Amino acid sequence: MSRFPSLALACLAALIFAGGGRTAGAVTLSMSCGAVGLELELCRKAAEAWSQESGHEVKIVSTPNSSTERLALYQQILAAQAGDIDVLQVDIVWPGLLGSHFVDLNDYIGAETVEAFFPALIAANTTAEGALLALPLYTDAGMLYARQDLLEKYGLNMPDTWEALTQAAEIIQAGERAAGNADFWGYVWQGRAYEGLTCNILEWVHSHGGGSFVEEDGTISIANPQAQEALSLAASWVDTISPTGVLNYSEEEARGVFQSGNAAFMRNWPYAWALGNAEDSLVKGKIAVAPLPRGPEGESTATLGGWSLAVSRYSKHPELAADLVKHMTGVAEQKRRAQESAYNPTRPALYQDADILAANPFFATLPEILDKAVARPSTVTGRHYNRVSNAIWSTVHAALSGEAPPESQTEALEARLRRIGRGGRW
Ligand code: GLC
Repeated sequence: MSRFPSLALACLAALIFAGGGRTAGAVTLSMSCGAVGLELELCRKAAEAWSQESGHEVKIVSTPNSSTERLALYQQILAAQAGDIDVLQVDIVWPGLLGSHFVDLNDYIGAETVEAFFPALIAANTTAEGALLALPLYTDAGMLYARQDLLEKYGLNMPDTWEALTQAAEIIQAGERAAGNADFWGYVWQGRAYEGLTCNILEWVHSHGGGSFVEEDGTISIANPQAQEALSLAASWVDTISPTGVLNYSEEEARGVFQSGNAAFMRNWPYAWALGNAEDSLVKGKIAVAPLPRGPEGESTATLGGWSLAVSRYSKHPELAADLVKHMTGVAEQKRRAQESAYNPTRPALYQDADILAANPFFATLPEILDKAVARPSTVTGRHYNRVSNAIWSTVHAALSGEAPPESQTEALEARLRRIGRGGRW
């Protein structure tokens, strides 16, 4: 049997080499990076800088944009115990799923380096036994993007409740369509059946006061009236203020519609700011960002996201790989990522950096949003998290696409989560 599964092979087809001058004894490490927005380019530049310094080479492996597909790829590669990837870019919700395949970075990286990161992000990547499975590369929080010019044109304020957002989206959509843009929509978000939908659902439910599916003590909490209300509202958007196609949108599809000037509001992560204001963007200079709206009984909620770098246990060069991770997550590279592409630093000190704040004025308010950001239930559900998230996104996707009434889906989801979590004992 092949040691290396075919999907993995197909996805590894695109390899980009970053290399300094090759010196005697130099090794080639391989590192997987995301490719959403400008990620791959930034990763390549950072690896090149490390190559220049270290004299070793880095082979960059591009991975699928969808966090869910990327997880499936990693699971195949790591299950085969293949040393083909030394450094892996991993989602903040994966340590419980993949952690047994990673080295303890405490063996290679000193405490003084680790202390400069947000403690909560280090905690998210640390096992109960104290092993540090990954170092945070960038952090993420869901935000509301709006067309400031259109809010002004229609005399509207930035909406702070979902009801106000729904109304504003209806008004702007009707106005822009009447003015001749038949493709214009009120609100775009991530509705495809994948991890990104779980992030959106958490924001709807939690901001209605409906909890976060599974609470920190393991209690399954989704069957409640506020969650029901949140899902009914979201289902009402499909084919009214959001295109039916939103049910197949991930981050990049939503950004595409917003950036081509065809949506009033968008839910996305901070990376969309830099691209939305790039030279080729049709909405350059017209974007405002704000915390996501809240429901009648809740508070604005941002899902906590983000990515870290881990070293594979099957790497032949763990020490060197850990040095690459240290470089990639270091001050200089994080500053470059933040300045050029609005990726959120994982080091608190960088939120006071004048150059970063000049490039992204909204970063000044981010530490507060990040501090309050709500985590998906990945720690409490541990190795079950992927099944939990799958149950969340698939049950709700059925409601959004009209296959099941939204009112019945919170009960259905509660029952599925009970089966996965042995009634809440996990
Ligand atoms: C972003 C977040 C990540 C999340 C993903 C979902 O990449 O950083 O945590 O899982 O979006 O699409």
